[in-house]
Amino acid sequence: MNTNLKKTSHVNHHHDAKVNGSILAPVTVIGLGAMGSKLARTFVNNGHVTTVWNRTPEKAAELVGLGASGATEIADAIAASPILIICVLDYDAARHILEPMREKLSGKVVVNLTTGTPEEARTMGTWIRNHGAEYLDGGIMAVPSLIATPHAVILYSGSQTAYETYKQVLERLGTSHYLGSDPALAPLNDLALLSGMYGMFGGFIHAVALAGSEGTKAEDFTTTLLMPFLQAMISTMPEMAKQIDTGDYSAKDASLAMQAAHDTIGEVSRVQGVSAETFAPIFELMKRRVEEGYGGDDFASVIELIRKRPSS
Ligand SMILES: NC(=O)c1ccc[n+]([C@@H]2O[C@H](COP(=O)([O-])OP(=O)(O)OC[C@H]3O[C@@H](n4cnc5c(N)ncnc54)[C@H](OP(=O)(O)O)[C@@H]3O)[C@@H](O)[C@H]2O)c1
Repeated sequence: MNTNLKKTSHVNHHHDAKVNGSILAPVTVIGLGAMGSKLARTFVNNGHVTTVWNRTPEKAAELVGLGASGATEIADAIAASPILIICVLDYDAARHILEPMREKLSGKVVVNLTTGTPEEARTMGTWIRNHGAEYLDGGIMAVPSLIATPHAVILYSGSQTAYETYKQVLERLGTSHYLGSDPALAPLNDLALLSGMYGMFGGFIHAVALAGSEGTKAEDFTTTLLMPFLQAMISTMPEMAKQIDTGDYSAKDASLAMQAAHDTIGEVSRVQGVSAETFAPIFELMKRRVEEGYGGDDFASVIELIRKRPSS
């Protein structure tokens, strides 16, 4: 019974799918690795006419079984839809696939969800535009199992028209953020978020190692103490961000001079037999900022030691 219902709605979806840019626009997915096949499956599950292509064609079989249309030739995959979503290993692979198809790209929207550098995104954007297509670069901040949930965040930059036309289609994949017309912005912000994550993970392993030096179990410490503490600390970030934007770092709660007066964390770590090498670089920066005369500032002023100074 359910199967019949599903089939009926599927047919209707196919009928609706004629309108370009509508929520049910036909979609082509190029690259069916772990990520690409999850993207394609999401479009199929949402009733999009979905065409798929992969260098190794066998990987399309499962998706074809679910209702996707498997293109043998890349040219057919490109011709099938107004929007092409490409998710392959790297930009070299993406370029290798698209280069021979350059005459077929005119009028298309190319959404490149392959991970790369800001420079690669800019170069790809220029190349795509030069062949008469609109370009959107995207950074997927999620693993395949999160795709199609709100927890999958995808950053986009490039053609605003393309983004607005296909926003509803792209939002099938998760929560999307459009960052601006320069294609470099998505990969740059992707890396910035990962940098924030690794900083936090570095703090996490040090904290667990320090508490664990007297036998505290990582799991208890993490869920009972560390996570609530970090959540409270995260709530101070908007104020720090405001200080960075305004350049007014005057300390309200805790001055750098007070925080960097003693390397208690480093010293106690060493006494406990724990390496402080994830914490040490941050402490060095705090000390340097105090030595340079900014002891009255809040922690956020440490950014002045690492950021690119605006040219004036
Ligand atoms: N998986 C994740 O958790 C995750 C998260 C965020 C972002 N990403 C990004 O998503 C992209 C794809 O990741 P993935 O996990 O799907 O990787 P994957 O499972 O290793 O799949 C790689 C894909 O790239 C294709 N490919 C590689 N070299 C190629 C070439 N020279 N020509 C044509 N196709 C080529 C492969 O085709 P074959 O099947 O023929 O080898 C396959 O479709 C990467 O840029 C990755 O950084 C992945």
